[in-house]
Amino acid sequence: MRKLLMPFALIATMAYSGEQFAMSDADRAMYAEMLENNPADIYVESGGEIFEEKLGGEEALAKFLGVKVDELPKYIAGFPRYIKKLGNVVGIDQVLQAMQVEQGKKMTKLKSEDMFSMLAYVKSLANDEQFTIDINADEHIKASYDLGKKTFETPRGGRGLSCLSCHSKDIVGMVLRTQPLPDLGKSGSGATWPAYRMTKSSLRTLQRRFQGCMKNALLKVIPIGSKEMVGLEVYVSTLAQENKKAIAIPGLKR
Ligand code: HEC
Repeated sequence: MRKLLMPFALIATMAYSGEQFAMSDADRAMYAEMLENNPADIYVESGGEIFEEKLGGEEALAKFLGVKVDELPKYIAGFPRYIKKLGNVVGIDQVLQAMQVEQGKKMTKLKSEDMFSMLAYVKSLANDEQFTIDINADEHIKASYDLGKKTFETPRGGRGLSCLSCHSKDIVGMVLRTQPLPDLGKSGSGATWPAYRMTKSSLRTLQRRFQGCMKNALLKVIPIGSKEMVGLEVYVSTLAQENKKAIAIPGLKR
């Protein structure tokens, strides 16, 4: 069994979940209501419009990726993946940027609402698909996965925490300041972000969500689109894949 690297002070603020809930009854009622009518749908829709207008939509994406339009869902379910002409393992957002460069257009920033919306739209094309990430497909994706796993497990920052300190099987179900610690595989995180985050009243992506945890836990915040971040996304997506979580965008989160 892996040894826990949890500082004592943090353990002392945790409790087993039992009767405790992360949400009040009122919050839960709101959650149920939003599930019927996810506020993120509007972002996905506008993301689709921007994608069509600025980049030429699915046709252009398929062409850029060298696949047929009807192969897009399964192909998109394999991101982040190694794209030979970019020489890197990249997320969908970085592919969209590369398309903009190729078309001589201004790049949309990775950390912007327009990009989050476009990313949500494009990933939603793979809704109901299982992830098709194959970490043995080539040395690049393998290296990205390894870097992501290492980034997940290595303690960093002032409190000596790693992602694994809070998201390991050993402590999942415990509660940290009223929030249950999620098992990122069982919660299908890789498959359910971009999501509407109720506490932020906005659409957030998986890498943006990682940054939230980094900030909260005083781990140095890693930039979106960096090798480490893409690796983290590969790693966390394979956890959803192992748990057979189908892609369901946009998610709805607390
Ligand atoms: C100090 C504990 C702690 C650390 C360290 C931590 N997290 Fe979290 N994380 C949480 C808690 C608590 C939640 C649930 C919060 C909520 O429901 O709003 C969470 C939620 C998440 C989610 C969203 C889960 C979902 O609903 O899909 C992701 C993804 C995530 N963390 C990734 C990470 C990554 C990556 C790292 C390392 C960079 C990390 N976390 C480090 C406590 C932590």
